[in-house]
Amino acid sequence: MLVNVQRYSLVAIILHWVSALLLIYMIFWGEGLVRGQPWMNPPIAPTNPGLHASLGILILIIAVARLGWRLINPPPPDVPMPVWHATGAHIIHWAFYALMIFIPLSGMAEWDKSINGKHPEFANFNFFGLLPIPHYSLSWFGGLHGLMTNLAMFLLFLHVAAALKHQFIDKDKLINRMAPH
Ligand code: HEM
Ligand code: HEM
Repeated sequence: MLVNVQRYSLVAIILHWVSALLLIYMIFWGEGLVRGQPWMNPPIAPTNPGLHASLGILILIIAVARLGWRLINPPPPDVPMPVWHATGAHIIHWAFYALMIFIPLSGMAEWDKSINGKHPEFANFNFFGLLPIPHYSLSWFGGLHGLMTNLAMFLLFLHVAAALKHQFIDKDKLINRMAPH
């Protein structure tokens, strides 16, 4: 039964899917751009730390825009569901916003330590060749980068599992709220 036909705005929907695709790519495959993979050397899949960083910064920029949009344009009211379920969903949503901001910042924080040492050619890297990206050697903070990406994977699993439950068990067509229209 379709219990609530109110949708997210088109801007919120576009920002959701662009950031979702970028984040999914980065947490599952983007690592290969940073870490040396001898069996995948050019021309098959050139390791390109600058691309990893540029895509990461792009996620950060989109996340800030998305957060701004979200604060000005409140989302549609929740579909009816148990309070613990709605609370859990909200916690995951806000955790995603935080991760989309702090994963890239922690990447910038560990760049010097983990990349410059091994690849001095990436000492001064750019955002898609346009602007220099600031970076630091904060090893205590940088260690969080890998931890936070693991947390993002776990939350993604919960988020998608919840969407599938709404679709196939509750049959409330919740996904339509986030579908392009
Ligand atoms: C295939 C993967 C995904 C599916 C099927 C999906 C589906 C959805 C759906 C249906 C909603 C609306 C929930 C509602 O109406 O209450 C939603 C909201 C949300 N999703 Fe996803 N999503 C996916 C991936 C992601 C990823 C990777 C992120 C992280 C960037 C993300 C972040 C969010 C956030 C933050 C919201 C809440 C938006 C708000 O209220 O401000 N989603 N998602
Ligand atoms: C949302 C955006 C990003 C995601 C999802 C992401 C994801 C990842 C993942 C999964 C790894 C492997 C971590 C591990 O297994 O320990 C990694 C490593 C790394 N990332 Fe990112 N990253 C993002 C943004 C950035 C940015 C913006 C920078 C720098 C400006 C950066 C710099 C690095 C560095 C230097 C490593 C290597 C860590 C090491 O070898 O110890 N990342 N990233």
